[in-house]
Amino acid sequence: MATVTKTKKAKTHYECVACGYVAAANMGKCPNCQGWGTIEATTHVTEAAGNATQTLHHELLGLGTPPSVPLPLSQVVSESHNRQETGWPELDRVLGGGLMPGSYILLGGDPGIGKSTLMLQMALRLAQSKQWQHNAMQSGKSPTLLYVAGEESPAQIRQRAERLLPEGAALPDAITLTTQTALEPLLQIIHQQQPALVIVDSIQSLSSGDAASPPGSLSQIKACAAGLMPVAKGLGIPVILIGHVTKEGQLSGPKVLEHLVDTVLYVEGDRYRHLRLVRAVKNRFGNTQEVGVFEMEGDGLREVTNPSALFVSDAVAGQQSGSVITATLEGTRPLLVEIQALVGTSSYSVPRRLATGVDLNRLHKLIAVLERRLGLDLSRQDVYLNVVGGLSLDDPATELAMAVAIVSSLRDRPVNAGTVILGEVGLTGEVRPIRQLPLRLKEVSQLGFAKAVVPKSVSPKKGTADISSIQCAEVDTLLAALPLCFSSAHKSTDL
Ligand code: TYD
Ligand code: MG
Repeated sequence: MATVTKTKKAKTHYECVACGYVAAANMGKCPNCQGWGTIEATTHVTEAAGNATQTLHHELLGLGTPPSVPLPLSQVVSESHNRQETGWPELDRVLGGGLMPGSYILLGGDPGIGKSTLMLQMALRLAQSKQWQHNAMQSGKSPTLLYVAGEESPAQIRQRAERLLPEGAALPDAITLTTQTALEPLLQIIHQQQPALVIVDSIQSLSSGDAASPPGSLSQIKACAAGLMPVAKGLGIPVILIGHVTKEGQLSGPKVLEHLVDTVLYVEGDRYRHLRLVRAVKNRFGNTQEVGVFEMEGDGLREVTNPSALFVSDAVAGQQSGSVITATLEGTRPLLVEIQALVGTSSYSVPRRLATGVDLNRLHKLIAVLERRLGLDLSRQDVYLNVVGGLSLDDPATELAMAVAIVSSLRDRPVNAGTVILGEVGLTGEVRPIRQLPLRLKEVSQLGFAKAVVPKSVSPKKGTADISSIQCAEVDTLLAALPLCFSSAHKSTDL
């Protein structure tokens, strides 16, 4: 009798790199996310090869069969007290209090935004921390961290580390580098070394024998991310994957990795300015609303502990006509920001409207409300609106401040000194309540402002003993707000 041997062949599929949609053929446009040119041919893992990484892990871990008896919840060992602080409070906050043992983290962001710098700086801090070394030894790991350099040469990384360290400081031996980007040998290295942290720079540069397509392709990213997971979950070593991915998922979709990892952080910011925001968009160990604020300097990233100071131009902010201070929220974090408006007679047939850091449609809406509800004539005026410090605002709570800034510039009158303006503006000219008013007012009071114009009907008094120093004027319409924003020396009817 003839024996029939079944051989599984690698099969080519077409998948969207942005959303993971599997298509029947190579199409120009993804029918799911409507992205153009995002469909790529991917060779799927063959069954035999797919098991290779798993088998390797099993052998290396020396594991028998996994325990099959379910544990009562109360007997599961709690690990929350073992969080390792990175030495950077801004980063720790985003991580939910520090690095959890065995956590699997994706750090995404545009190329050149500062992901490698952030990770190398964190590595340098950890390597110098006695507590980290102690914790590593306690958990049976070697007090080293492994940096997988898939993008830059070790010499380049050394050069960068020298730039990041204070002059004359020695390079710590606890940071070890490897250029091994093939997954299987890399796993061997990790199992041998048992480092206390693995940083993979980047996931796009790794390749696994489990997938036949080139590094950076969707199936490779998936296979490598899945292959590294047991390092975190089995060995308890935190693994950080750096990925060149944008929030919109334009490059090799983070969406395919998001479900695999515990935490997804994104580094955002304008590449031509200094500000960098590290934002948690998913965090199994903490709050996803958190944002860490950094500035990119010549010697690396520096924490911004008082970000409000960054977005308020100087001591005279809010005292020039057209300049208004408001409080926005970045996640759960209140930030004071200065909004500037410049209104002037237009020399164009169609007046110019320019918004920086604000959606132009929002500016158009506010102009329409000011014209229609307050009877202001802006039809022959150029209107420029700017958010100081390069921040992008889409918080509706800042609209009243924008509207007041426009009026202030139009009438060339500064708003009352030391006043912060908060509220959303509706199309009927009403001022609508905003979320987290007490939190915003707390920041306002901490930065020494004494007065605030706020929407009616939300009580700012709830549980906020330290904002009693602020004199709040509650308003329900734009018309009612204006006299309170400008000095009583000027008649409100002028405005
Ligand atoms: P990098 O961390 O390489 O970005 P990514 O890993 O996200 O691609 O950052 C690169 C940019 O940061 C580069 O344009 C130079 C700048 N930079 C500084 O301004 N100061 C520094 O100390 C370092 C190391 C980089
Ligand atoms: Mg990099």
